[in-house]
Amino acid sequence: MAARDIALITGGASGIGAATAIRLARRMAVVIADRDLPAAERLAASIKQDGGNAFAIEMDVASGTSVRQAVARISQDIGPVRHLFSNAGINIRQPVEDITPPDWAAMMNTHVRGGFLVAQAVLARMLADRRGGIVFTSSDFAVVGMARGAAYAAAKTALYSLAKSLALECAPFGVRVNAIGPGPIDTPLLRNRPEAEWREATDRFARIVPMRRLGSADEVAACVDFLLSDRASFITGQLLHPNGGQVMW
Ligand code: NAI
Repeated sequence: MAARDIALITGGASGIGAATAIRLARRMAVVIADRDLPAAERLAASIKQDGGNAFAIEMDVASGTSVRQAVARISQDIGPVRHLFSNAGINIRQPVEDITPPDWAAMMNTHVRGGFLVAQAVLARMLADRRGGIVFTSSDFAVVGMARGAAYAAAKTALYSLAKSLALECAPFGVRVNAIGPGPIDTPLLRNRPEAEWREATDRFARIVPMRRLGSADEVAACVDFLLSDRASFITGQLLHPNGGQVMW
């Protein structure tokens, strides 16, 4: 892998995205794109302090204008995006009768529209160069569904479908597109609930996950690092599950 390769990581300022930025920075330049610019800047500074090459950029993946402007700035100031980790995400847990049209739209716009917009913005150059790779963050729930999470699971299934279609379309050009389907991972997204509810949730995960624990963000980052490397050179259109054995299919 050439040292000048550039990876764009959306939702890169926290959790799985941040762990992936730290890992990928060992072998390429990373652009940490997030709607939380101060957090992205803090992470970029810390990676640079450790000798890596990192940049922070503000991007709201749900906004076509924001995505276009950010990707244009990256191409102009840093270089072409060779690897995309399309990972920005939100979660809203609620029974189906409480899902409002704005909640539904936020979920679809962030995950599905956001995944599409960012991939579209970087793909033309990858296809022209016949080099590059994309990984989307889907979820275990893309396969098995989720009570009190219908909008989230629907968005994650759509992302997996997007990954498969792009994989088919891009394969002749040597551009690979995959998805990851993590199980429960200890990140701010999962912890974003009252303390008692978090304790109850970790107890439940310890019971239902065959490996009896939550995963770490770095365990997911290791999968993304693999899929975006030449070690995965014949893998495309797949959903790889770092999930402690929770879902097998
Ligand atoms: P996190 O909350 O730690 O990180 C998510 C990041 O995405 C944050 O930095 C946030 O500012 C950013 N973000 C949210 N909306 C954005 C937008 N519109 N534009 C740009 N950035 C935006 O969460 P975590 O857990 O690291 O999640 C990363 C991805 O992994 C998400 O797509 C999530 O759905 C997925 N996932 C997480 C699992 C878990 O158990 N933590 C399990 C399966 C999937």
